[in-house]
Amino acid sequence: MNRGSFIIFLFLVSQTLSAPEYGKKIQYDGCDPVALDDPPVVMSDSAISRPIYPIRRCTKTLIVVILDESGSMDVQKADVIGGYNSFVDNQRAIKNDQARLILIKFSSGVNIAHRAIELAEVPHLTTSSYRPGGSTALYDAVSEGIRIAETAANSDERVLVLIMTDGEENSSKKATSSSVKAMIRKKEALGTWTFAYIGQNPDGWASQMGQSKHNVIVYDLQNQGSNMEKASDAVAKFRAAAAPQSSAFFAQT
Ligand SMILES: *[C@@H]1O[C@H](CO)[C@@H](O)[C@H](O)[C@H]1NC(C)=O
Repeated sequence: MNRGSFIIFLFLVSQTLSAPEYGKKIQYDGCDPVALDDPPVVMSDSAISRPIYPIRRCTKTLIVVILDESGSMDVQKADVIGGYNSFVDNQRAIKNDQARLILIKFSSGVNIAHRAIELAEVPHLTTSSYRPGGSTALYDAVSEGIRIAETAANSDERVLVLIMTDGEENSSKKATSSSVKAMIRKKEALGTWTFAYIGQNPDGWASQMGQSKHNVIVYDLQNQGSNMEKASDAVAKFRAAAAPQSSAFFAQT
């Protein structure tokens, strides 16, 4: 067997192993779990002799940005503000996916800048709305962000939680590494939640939270605007792909 056909063989084996049972009701056509009660549309594919189920497409996204506003962000705050504003503008330009955004800023405490609002309504950051100071209550911010998002998310929306920090946790009062991990695991298991992390020690974060290594990248301290650019590209690809979830967030092509 040559390399090409071996890859096709592996693909077919994996498809067969992961194939749903014939006639099994699965969710399809949108993120809405209500669709579970509808029978799937079944087509046959003689090559692998099993029913083919339509791939679920999500075209509504709730983006939750959890943005570090601690003292260390002050040095390059103009780049952070500019980067965030371009991120918002780029996301607004995407028309095939409808998105809402929640912005949570954190330093020693957690500050809900705004709850879920349409991208078109999302305000730009300014030097008066983004004022770095204090320490890094990262765990409290992530757990608060998840709580707000779970209340806000509509049943037909996928949820994307984007964590941006230049430092590591050092001042949470309520949440812990293990409580945040439990929340992330539970939400990812729903199949419609994706967590992405741009921060220090990304591999450490991924293993601590049981997350995919493809959903984390290091925060560039030299060029802070570039962090938002990378985030914006990955979010654009995620929204274009319309899959309910991604475990290859920064590895999308
Ligand atoms: C906590 O984090 C902030 C922001 O990154 C930093 O300025 C501060 O020195 C840190 N404090 C400790 C005790 O590590």
